[in-house]
Amino acid sequence: MTRHLIDITDFTPQEVTTILRLSEQPGLPKVLAGLGVALIFEKPSNRTRHSMEMAVVQLGGHPVYTRGEEVGIDVRETAEDIALVMAGYHAVLAARVFQHDKVQRMAKVSPVPVLNMLSDHAHPLQALADALTMQQIHGPLAGKRVAWVGDYNNVARSLGEICVLLGATITYGCPIGFHPAPPELARLNALGSGSASHQHHTEDAVAGAVAVHTDSWVSMGQEAEKQARIASFRAYTVTNEMMAYAEPGAGFYHCLPAYRGLEVAAEVIDGPASHVIVQAHNRMHTARGVLAFLMGVS
Ligand code: CP
Ligand code: NVA
Repeated sequence: MTRHLIDITDFTPQEVTTILRLSEQPGLPKVLAGLGVALIFEKPSNRTRHSMEMAVVQLGGHPVYTRGEEVGIDVRETAEDIALVMAGYHAVLAARVFQHDKVQRMAKVSPVPVLNMLSDHAHPLQALADALTMQQIHGPLAGKRVAWVGDYNNVARSLGEICVLLGATITYGCPIGFHPAPPELARLNALGSGSASHQHHTEDAVAGAVAVHTDSWVSMGQEAEKQARIASFRAYTVTNEMMAYAEPGAGFYHCLPAYRGLEVAAEVIDGPASHVIVQAHNRMHTARGVLAFLMGVS
């Protein structure tokens, strides 16, 4: 059966653990030798494009970057036709899309693995790098407390999924209207041995956390809502005062790009608690790990 990565929940906890182990393993077999990987981007990218291209090269393959407008998913031709055609050229298809269902529909028909490189709903590649980075810095995630402050967005959802799968406790501190609804929390809680909850007060959300995460308040595609969103999130900037409620030695995490003075104070992201550059570099290592896994390495 062809495996895909559309959401973190496509993998079992054991499989996530295997992928994280492969991500740290030097000298993986060149499973993509002589093969192509399609990288389709409907949105801009720095980390995802570069980390995926280099991971493909490290596995012996050839990445083919394509702008979303060129293939025109559901504009020039259907997501299904694109997947079926490209699967004849490439060993893996990867796409960054606005609507989550585009990658879901590609995966449904594709005979080769399809990777979600970020949709409006999920960012599973980011979650793998986040988990690897936290594990490297704080040790195994089982039993650890993780906090998310700000918008319950694509990155927040995938992080919650991986935390619960790996046995961690994630607490969200989000404004009303931007928080995970009770059914979504119930879904997260059913995924594994960890747990997920929401606290309206950020100091309660970060209490006891070894890792404090945030992301931009304005995701790609939400630019028209920028001013309204900034007004809604004003009290949710991660500051040194907020970090003081977390565990001593707690780390600060951000998928980047970051907006200093909005979701995070410069003193935090540029300070000693920040692990954002290691986190960004781990995007390449986890991309290589998951590509190897999807190509059958275990
Ligand atoms: N974190 C992340 O996905 O960054 P890019 O948008 O630059 O790929
Ligand atoms: N939530 C952000 C993540 C960027 C990597 C967005 O979707 O734009």
